[in-house]
Order: sequence, then structure tokens, then C-alpha cells
Amino acid sequence: MIKSIIRGTGKFVPPNLVTNQDLEKFMDTSDEWIQKRTGIKQRYWISEDSPMGASDLGFEAAKQALDAAGWTAEDLDFIIFATLSPDIMFPGGGCLLAAKLGLNSTPTLDIRQQCTGFLYGFATADAYIKSGLAKKVLLVGGEVHSSGLDKSTRGRDVTVIFGDGAAATCIEGVDNEERVGLLASVLHTDGNYAASLMTELPASNLFNRNPPGLPLDDPRYFPVMDGPSIFKKAVRLLPKVTHEVLEKAGIKLDQIDLVVPHQANKRINQAFGQFLKLEDDKIFHNIEKYGNTTAASIPLALHEAIEQGRTGKSGETVLFVALGAGLTWGAAIYRFF
Ligand SMILES: CC(C)(COP(=O)(O)OP(=O)(O)OC[C@H]1O[C@@H](n2cnc3c(N)ncnc32)[C@H](O)[C@@H]1OP(=O)(O)O)[C@@H](O)C(=O)NCCC(=O)NCCS
Repeated sequence: MIKSIIRGTGKFVPPNLVTNQDLEKFMDTSDEWIQKRTGIKQRYWISEDSPMGASDLGFEAAKQALDAAGWTAEDLDFIIFATLSPDIMFPGGGCLLAAKLGLNSTPTLDIRQQCTGFLYGFATADAYIKSGLAKKVLLVGGEVHSSGLDKSTRGRDVTVIFGDGAAATCIEGVDNEERVGLLASVLHTDGNYAASLMTELPASNLFNRNPPGLPLDDPRYFPVMDGPSIFKKAVRLLPKVTHEVLEKAGIKLDQIDLVVPHQANKRINQAFGQFLKLEDDKIFHNIEKYGNTTAASIPLALHEAIEQGRTGKSGETVLFVALGAGLTWGAAIYRFF
């Protein structure tokens, strides 16, 4: 039976490090507040002198993942690009990334599922692989949040938590009878909560998508978030979807060696751990270094977890779990080959 196996991973963040103290210079916030409420100490943002798009960051991560897999771009038969911050309105980042990789006919697919982009992407890659539509898939999550954040005090609840970054995963269909690869995944959406975390403008549902002389004092040009409501949803739904995916995979929580969750807020992931009675060393955290990189967050954490030897050995089982704008949420269980 065909299994979806991760062959290589890669990550890239722009070089411009932005500490909490840097944010204090242009908005009413404090390192103490940010660390206490979110666990974040710093993040990386693109800089004015070297602007980059999500596909540029994704390109760097993709090169690393391809090297790690021992593949060239020409080996790929499908590319999935997950982002909420595409370089431009259209075409999608997958098209731009494929061109940067020197490809001109490899199919690409963009996924707009925010923080669950990697989960939707992995499930999609798995479905393509199992249906025979693809064998070697590149899954990239990349975000440039910083160019669209409200850097005044009005936007502080949102702006302090987001970082730019990308990560990539090479996934291959392998014929194997063992219980390896993506064992199960569960995905959900509830669009009734779309307004809990969104950027409203520019909007194609308006007669004039881009009104002349964009009024940048209008907060609808920037992401707004009902943080406490999302927080409560996350703490309730992440354990629930974990039970769903465990049941689907037919395995018990104590068979999970490491949880690699979406890095939205360290407190959310700690509360998740407490709810499921998991030791803290069973949950991987790197939000303190990168903030929330949305679609890049899980693969970036996975990359670092492998790099640090926290997971990646044959037979080890990881749980991916995420909730974000949409609302979208889900979980997946992966066992290393
Ligand atoms: C955003 C978040 C960190 C805010 O933390 P919180 O503990 O809920 O804080 P609140 O929104 O209740 O705000 C508490 C106070 O801090 C203030 N505050 C908000 N952001 C601040 C900042 N960056 N610096 C200083 N003070 C801030 C608020 O204005 C509020 O002040 P008030 O009590 O005088 O009204 C938290 O709600 C969160 O992480 N939510 C979930 C985010 C998420 O998972 N999103 C989906 C994936 S992207």
C-alpha cells in the first residue's frame, strides 16, 4: 500500500530580527506583556531595503528540503503552496515558486487555509499520492505578515504575535506494508467565525476593490482578531481534534512521541498539554524565536525538532495540530519511516 513519507525538510526566515524591545519603539507595548501573554521574545520580519514575498522565502526553504531529500526540482510532480499572505493578489504563490525553481509545467496548487495550511497541504499531498496523481510532492508554507500589519498601538494585539518565515517538506509515495507515513488526518472549517481573525480589505466583494487613495487609517486594511475568543476555541478544539485523529489512526495518545503544534501562543499549547495530561517535553515549542508564522509554523517546528534530534527516527510518531483563521483546525499523525 502506498504511504506518504517525508523525505526532507527546510526552513527560511528573513535576516531582519525584530525583538520585543524593537516593537516598544513604535507602539505602546512591552517585552514583559508580550512574553507573559504569548511567550514570544522575537520574530523575523522582511526589511524595507530587501523586500521579499512569501514565494521568495518559500523558495529558500524549498531548496533546502530538496537537498535534504536528495531531489532536484525536476523530480517533483506536484507543488502545494500554503499561505495567507500571497506575494500578489494573483497568480498564486505556487506558480511563482515553481518559476523560481526553474519549472515551467509542473502542476501547482495554492492553499488558503491560514494556520492549518500545512495540515490541509499534507492531507492534499497524501490524497494526490494515494490516488496516483503524484509521487513526489513539495509542500511549502510561507508567510510575509509584516508588510500588512498595523504597526500603531491600535494593532498591537495582532502585530506583536506574527513573524515572517517559510518551511518546506518533500513528501514521497512509497509502497510499504508497515504502519508508517501519514497515518490519519482530520480537517474542519467553521466559516461562521471568519471575522474572528481576518484582513478585510482590499476585497473583491466590493464594487471598487481598491478605492483611490487608500485610507490607511482605516483598520479594515489590517488584520483584526478577536484573540480571547480564538484562544478559548483553540483550547477546546485542539484536544478534541486530537482525540478524533487518534481514533482515526487507531492509536493511543501515549504512542505519540512528540506533539508538533501550530505555534500561535505558547499558553495555548501549554493549556493543550495540560488538558491532555502531556509532559511539557512532549510538546515542541519554538514560538519564542519566530512568533506565529502561520502556514510555515508546523513545518518550521518540524524541521527544528528533527534538527535538534527531538524526533525523526524510524518508527517515531508525531502529532501535528493547529487552529487558525477561518476558523480552520485539524490534526494529523505521522510516523517516521
Ligand atoms: C492575542 C492574545 C495574545 C491576547 O492575550 P489576552 O491575554 O487574551 O489579552 P486581551 O486581548 O484580553 O488583552 C488584555 C489587555 O492587554 C492589552 N493589550 C493587547 N495587546 C497588547 C500588547 N501587544 N501590548 C500591551 N498590551 C496589550 C489589551 O488592550 C487589554 O487591555 P485592557 O485590559 O486595558 O482592555 C491572545 O488572546 C491569543 O493568543 N489569542 C489567540 C490567538 C490565536 O491563536 N490566533 C489564531 C491563530 S493565528
